[in-house]
Parts: sequence; C-alpha cells; structure tokens
Amino acid sequence: MSSYDVIVIGAGPGGYVCAIRCAQLGMKVAVVEGRATLGGTCLNVGCIPSKAMLHATHMLHEAEHNFASMGLKGKAPSVDWKQMLTYKETVVGQNTGGIEFLFKKNKIDWLKGWGSIPAAGQVKVGDDIHEAKHIIIASGSEASGLPGVEVDEKTVVTSTGALELGKIPKTLAVIGAGVIGLELGSVYARLGSDVTVIEYLDAITPGMDVEVARQFQKLLTKQGLKFTLGAAVQGVSVKNNKATVTYKLRKDDSEHTLTADTVLVATGRKPFTAGLGIDALGIEMTPRGQIKINTNFATNIPGIYAIGDAVEGPMLAHKAEDEGMAVAEGIAGQHPHVNYGIIPGVIYTHPEVSSVGETEETLKQQGRAYKVGKFPFMGNARAKANFAGEGFVKILADKNTDRILGAHIIGPMAGDLIHEICVAMEFGAAAEDLARTCHAHPTYSEAVREAALACGDGAIHA
Ligand code: NAI
Repeated sequence: MSSYDVIVIGAGPGGYVCAIRCAQLGMKVAVVEGRATLGGTCLNVGCIPSKAMLHATHMLHEAEHNFASMGLKGKAPSVDWKQMLTYKETVVGQNTGGIEFLFKKNKIDWLKGWGSIPAAGQVKVGDDIHEAKHIIIASGSEASGLPGVEVDEKTVVTSTGALELGKIPKTLAVIGAGVIGLELGSVYARLGSDVTVIEYLDAITPGMDVEVARQFQKLLTKQGLKFTLGAAVQGVSVKNNKATVTYKLRKDDSEHTLTADTVLVATGRKPFTAGLGIDALGIEMTPRGQIKINTNFATNIPGIYAIGDAVEGPMLAHKAEDEGMAVAEGIAGQHPHVNYGIIPGVIYTHPEVSSVGETEETLKQQGRAYKVGKFPFMGNARAKANFAGEGFVKILADKNTDRILGAHIIGPMAGDLIHEICVAMEFGAAAEDLARTCHAHPTYSEAVREAALACGDGAIHA
C-alpha cells in the first residue's frame, strides 16, 4: 500500500492539470488511469485527433478551392486515408507522450488501471489499495446515446468511431447539430462524403448567439452539409453495412427515413462515473447524474472532490483544467476562483466559431440595456488576402457603462481571437478600452478592435 497527499482519478485535461498543480504546490500525487495512454477523451479520441483531421481536410479544401487563384497550379492532392489516420495517431501520440513526460518531471505516479473508492481516504486499483488524504474524481464523460440507437462504432458511431472509420463513407448521417456533429460533419464533407445533419431543434448549435448560428448554418450549407431541422430521431437500424435513420418531423409528426453508409450519433455526453463506488459511498448526485459539489469542488464526503465533465457546467476541456488547478490550490490553502461567466466556447470548423459571456438572447431575457458592435471580416485586409472574409465579430456591451458583456466571432482564427476579449472582460474592460488599444496591421485581430469601435463612434473600415 502506498500513501499520497492526493490521488486523482482520471488523466484527462481536468485530472492531469490538477495533478501537475498539486505537485507544483509540494504535494505527493498519483493519478489513476485505465487507458493505455494519458490525456483522457480529449487527447486520445476527442479534441486533439479531431483537430488533426480538421487541419488535414482544411488543407485539402484550400488546395481544391483556393490554390489556383493564388497562382498555385497543379492537380489537387488525392486522399490517402490510411496516412491521414496515421498522421492523426502521431499527433495523439506526441500529446499523450507529452503528458507522460510531464508526470515524470513532476514526480507524479501513474497508477495504471481503473480506480474505485472503497472508503474515504482509499483508492483501489486492481488488487492494490492506496491511501490518500484527498481524492479528486476527474473521471470525465461518455457519449450519452439515444434510445433505439445501438452504437457498434463501425456503422453507427460516436465521435470515437468516427475518428477511425475503415474508409471514407459515401454518405454520412449525423444525429445532432452540436459541436461534435458539425466538426466531424465538416471533416467528412471536405473528404467528399454526402453529409446530412438531423437536428431535433429548429436551429443548429443551441445556446449560440442566434445571428451567429444562422450565419454558421449558411456557411456550412455552402460547404455542402445538408440540414434536416426540427426532426426527432426515433431509431437506427443496420442492414448489409448500411444504416437507416428513422425520424419524425416535429411540425407535422410525419415519419421519414434516411439511409447512409455511416451514422454519427452526436447528441451530447453524460458524466462517466460507473465503477467508482459512488452509491456505496453515498456521494450525492444532481438529478442530471452529475456529482454534486460545493464551491470548493468538495462532495458531501469529506476528502473527496470532483471536477470537469463529471460535475455541473459546460463539458469543456478548458473548464475542467481551470477546475483542476483551482481544486489543487484550494487544498493547498490558497483562495482560487473560477470565473464561470468568462469561459470561451469554440467550434473548430472552418470558419471557426467562438463565443464568451452573454448572447443577445440571454441579455434580452435579463432585460438588460445593451449595444452591439459588429464588424465583418470582409472589411479586414488580412482576411481578404487569405480567402477568409466570411463572418464577423460581434461585441455586446452595456448600453450605459460600455462594459463588455459578451462576444461572438465567426471567422478566421475565431478560437484564438476570442481570448483578447476574455482577458478584457476579466479586467472589467469597456468596449472603448479595446477600441483604444493599438492593434497591429494587418492582422485578424483588427476586426476585434473594429467591433469594439463599432460599440462607440463607429468602425473605420465598415
Ligand atoms: P451537444 O450538446 O453540443 O449537441 C447535441 C445536439 O443533439 C443538440 O443540438 C440536440 O438538440 C441534438 N439532439 C439531441 N437529441 C436528438 C434527437 N433525438 N434527434 C435529433 N437531434 C437530437 O453535444 P455533442 O456535439 O455530442 O458534444 C458533446 C459535448 O462535448 C458537448 O458538451 C460539447 O461542448 C463537447 N465538445 C466540445 C468541443 C469543442 O469545444 N470544440 C468538441 C467536441 C465536443
């Protein structure tokens, strides 16, 4: 039996970041992980491999659509699917290996296997019981699935199977127009698949600023994705390696089918807590199956904490990371704080979509007086040069105080551009603060400044 200050269960972005922070703060730390490699869903079968596929297929798109007009003549590249998957695996390996290196550097023990908590202060891995003053559950999430839909990860897949298909499907049906459905739908549309996205609601990406969501749908449609909105999927049947999705249109209850080579089920994720011993310990859960925690990430059982996808809040790697650092700092006696009002969200399609803070819809619901500053990328010189003039930056600011309340970007590098606004919001900035900050020319960032200017006397290039 070994004894630790902290044992973290799960080596995803929440767990591994937490472990590193604990080690930096002088604690003796171990992480329990049952996968063959560290990094959790994000590094192994989520954020990182999907970004590799998005990058590769975006390059293909550029070659097919924009090279010739830049004077780069020649045949567009053909796709070597096996090599593309190898490239993806290499990227994953570099990242998961990187975490292993960081564990060694920080003297963090990796307890290999799936952990459970037989009692407060104990973690069982295989036949071994380890002691810990503090146990942090960072066990993540799994695809939530749909009734009547059986996933085999070959014909009917979650994001995991979609990242390792045997071949590029001629036809792909995507259930759910959320982040996963649209990112992976884009990948396969660029690879030539005929992609249809079936979504229960009447709009894509629920929760997103409606103006951005509309523009996003328009651009994706231009890229070849088809959308069937307001459609409730009833089930999927598989015959001769083809899958048939049955759905009902909500407006008239009429039943329809769609047959495809592959069906991607992307209807959300749920906390993954099976096997931990939650029930026997009496850990309180929320009605939505998340581990209930207080503002210090503590469960109702002393010495047991939980963070990331297993608890409430957006299921995002960076939210889990922030919670991982905060719980470590709290255990060390510091006074950390996670600002849940300023957690950016990014969809890594092309163009990218990003958001932070309030949307126009949430501000209206709150009855707040706000103003909108908008700037199209068509007015940005760098974007025009790079065939990236589609989309806009939208900043929402308090009508009276000019304080920035939210921002929404659809356009090139939107996922990076949003952080300037996050920092500004963290410092309580007014739109004028951004507008008066010198931005290098020619950069995409100028579009952010112009949107801030548009909150005041007006953008220059619009
Ligand atoms: P999601 O919650 O983003 O979207 C699910 C969609 O499925 C919703 O639009 C919902 O209305 C629809 N839906 C549900 N039931 C349906 C039915 N019966 N018929 C038709 N449509 C139905 O979930 P998603 O895309 O699976 O992602 C899961 C989680 O992973 C999310 O929390 C997401 O934020 C996170 N994630 C984040 C990424 C990023 O930050 N770039 C990338 C991938 C995942």
